Amino acid sequence: MSRKQVPVSIKFNELGLRLVDGRSVLEGVSGTFLPGRMVAIMGPSGAGKTTFMNVLSGKATYGQMTGQVAFNDGELDLLTMKQGMGFVPQDDIVHEQLTVSNSDPATRRKKRLECLVLLKTWENIFFSAKLRNPYNVPDALLEEVVEDVLNVMQMTHIQGSVVGGVEERGISGGQRKRVNIGLELAARPTVLYLDEPTSGLDSTSSLQVINSLSKMARLDMTIAMVIHQPRYPLFSLFDDVLLLGPGGRTVYLGPSLGAKSYFTTLGSLAAREMNPADWLMDVLSGVVPNEQLSTFRPAMLFDIWNSKKDSISRDQVRRSLTALEDSAVLVNAIEEEWAKIDKDSSGSVDAKELALLLQTCGEQHPHPEAVAEMLHQISGGKEFATKQDMVTFVHRLRGSEHPAAKGAAVSPTANAGTAGTQSSDETQRLLALEAHHTQPRFTLPRPGFCQQCGIVLKRRFAMFMRETSRRMEEVGLVLLCSTGIGLMHMGSNGPNSLDLPGNLHMFFIGLALLSAVSSLKVFGEDRPMFWRESANGISVAAFFTARCLGNMFDVLLLGSTYILIYFILTRPPVPYMVYLIPGILVAFAAASWGYLISTLVQPQNATTATVMFILVGCGILGNPYRMSDLIDGGAKEVMIALSLIRWALPMCLSATIERAQGKSLCIDLNVLVVHQAYHNDMSQGKYTLWNQGLLALVCTSILVTFAAFLGLKFTNRSKQV
Ligand SMILES: Nc1ncnc2c1ncn2[C@@H]1O[C@H](COP(=O)(O)OP(=O)(O)O)[C@@H](O)[C@H]1O
Ligand SMILES: [Mg+2]
Repeated sequence: MSRKQVPVSIKFNELGLRLVDGRSVLEGVSGTFLPGRMVAIMGPSGAGKTTFMNVLSGKATYGQMTGQVAFNDGELDLLTMKQGMGFVPQDDIVHEQLTVSNSDPATRRKKRLECLVLLKTWENIFFSAKLRNPYNVPDALLEEVVEDVLNVMQMTHIQGSVVGGVEERGISGGQRKRVNIGLELAARPTVLYLDEPTSGLDSTSSLQVINSLSKMARLDMTIAMVIHQPRYPLFSLFDDVLLLGPGGRTVYLGPSLGAKSYFTTLGSLAAREMNPADWLMDVLSGVVPNEQLSTFRPAMLFDIWNSKKDSISRDQVRRSLTALEDSAVLVNAIEEEWAKIDKDSSGSVDAKELALLLQTCGEQHPHPEAVAEMLHQISGGKEFATKQDMVTFVHRLRGSEHPAAKGAAVSPTANAGTAGTQSSDETQRLLALEAHHTQPRFTLPRPGFCQQCGIVLKRRFAMFMRETSRRMEEVGLVLLCSTGIGLMHMGSNGPNSLDLPGNLHMFFIGLALLSAVSSLKVFGEDRPMFWRESANGISVAAFFTARCLGNMFDVLLLGSTYILIYFILTRPPVPYMVYLIPGILVAFAAASWGYLISTLVQPQNATTATVMFILVGCGILGNPYRMSDLIDGGAKEVMIALSLIRWALPMCLSATIERAQGKSLCIDLNVLVVHQAYHNDMSQGKYTLWNQGLLALVCTSILVTFAAFLGLKFTNRSKQV
């Protein structure tokens, strides 16, 4: 990670938020966040911590914001600053099918040559870096950035793992949180906000995360995070703390280590054995007795702060991890990886396992003598090394003492060594490329529409490659469905069959249902990720276009499987194209309805809405037996114009009849009557039924897809800022 070009201070004055119902949830919060410092925002539940961060970052569009925020004393406005801002949401919004990052440097190098590898190795963090850095940053530098992020967040060992989700576990919860943060770090933000990044983590993992972030702050980043009841070791890693009282008012903003003495001088009774963070919360809630004011109420703290705030000094020496804590973090990292290192689960590592480990790290077959020598060094002469041997060895490598002396501070050099801040010569060279820019990095132009489209499409493809089992299941279901319908219609799809119109009707309804329901996931499942990216300045149009293009392949695969099986089973006396072309067009048009519905209706109701719409809007309204009543050039006809089947069915029907007439085959009277009904429509004479159908279905697909785009862009606006 490089130093930020322009450090940013954030000055906020009388910040407040009034909700639409008139309730004020934040009031008069003032202060400054300084660059190179990490601030903890603390307060009781519901005090308005999340709200404060939303207001500060311009995300609280759901209410009336008051007060002012100035970046570098007004030199930068919020709109410009947003590009240099990272916001880590409380929930981990990550791409579950992607790996944490590209697998290894050698593959990455190869990727430029091999297309297939390229598509496989574009991953979570790299995509984030690619989308959110200025467009002319060379890929090689972005790869270095990703490497730095992995180092700083201690994720190098999981970089090849698929993230996974609730249903399919990939990496652990703590690692997921780190990926969530890494996604923002990859954008190289100057200001970073985080909402409870340690919730749900054990104390060592929390320490690991906060310690990593504290190292980032040292690179002139301004970091503010909401944190819930941290233990003392964690609390003391913060430079400053902002305490918010109930109702969203400031109680204290200053050095974290000075908070306790501030309140004790106000008369709050100190509790020596208590965790200071818990004690502060007790002071805010009025549980702690006050020695100086018998009438003390927590509400008085707001006014006391207003009178004292100018006397608080922000100069404070930063605390480093103690050797004991550093060791705990290290043990945690080795524990996480132990199962992979100790392949035979014997509890120790022998020469063979060590050779494998070295091979994974160095990508070359290590010399047996080198392995034996290393094992000797790690284990101190034994034939195998235990977990503890590994920890001691790594400590030795870092140049720090093993924490025999409890609480001894780790030397600053040892800490810097683990920070991953020592850039390679290559990085320095690449950074020099960027250094000639005089304006802040985040004001440089980002990737344009086409580049974003390309990046999202490649990312989609990487995910696509990992969804094969889901896709096979889907194809299996489609096979089942088309086989069922095909068997029912066997031998009755000829021109002499009374059932022909009804069979075609059912065939198209089935296809439209499959396609529409399976397309719901395109904008349904991924909505939180989309909102996060849209808020980060990714173009909605680029995201939309790439996702639609990506889904086209799925629709084609499902549609053609369905049509092929049906065609083989029913063997109608027409060429395959007579079924394939209208079928694929119906599938695309139905998919566009799926997109539209998924952007407008809540995900929980989207399936019901789609099934109802396709059955009624496209199915019942496209019922061929009533067409002679409906197609009369009047209002009813306008209503059924949107029915996909009303257009697709006559395409198939007329082609079948024309072919039968050409061969002088017998045609059922009922089929002729239905066919005639379609000839009575508004555009009669101008186009053949085939061309009319083509035109109508293509237009429907385009128009409804466009409506879906508007739906995506203009619904949930407040989540996209
Ligand atoms: N979008 C919203 N609509 C209605 N009430 C909200 C909204 N956001 C926050 N609030 C209310 O504002 C108060 C503070 O919320 P929040 O900032 O999330 O608290 P904290 O993060 O400190 O726990 C709560 O009472 C909450 O109910
Ligand atoms: Mg909150």
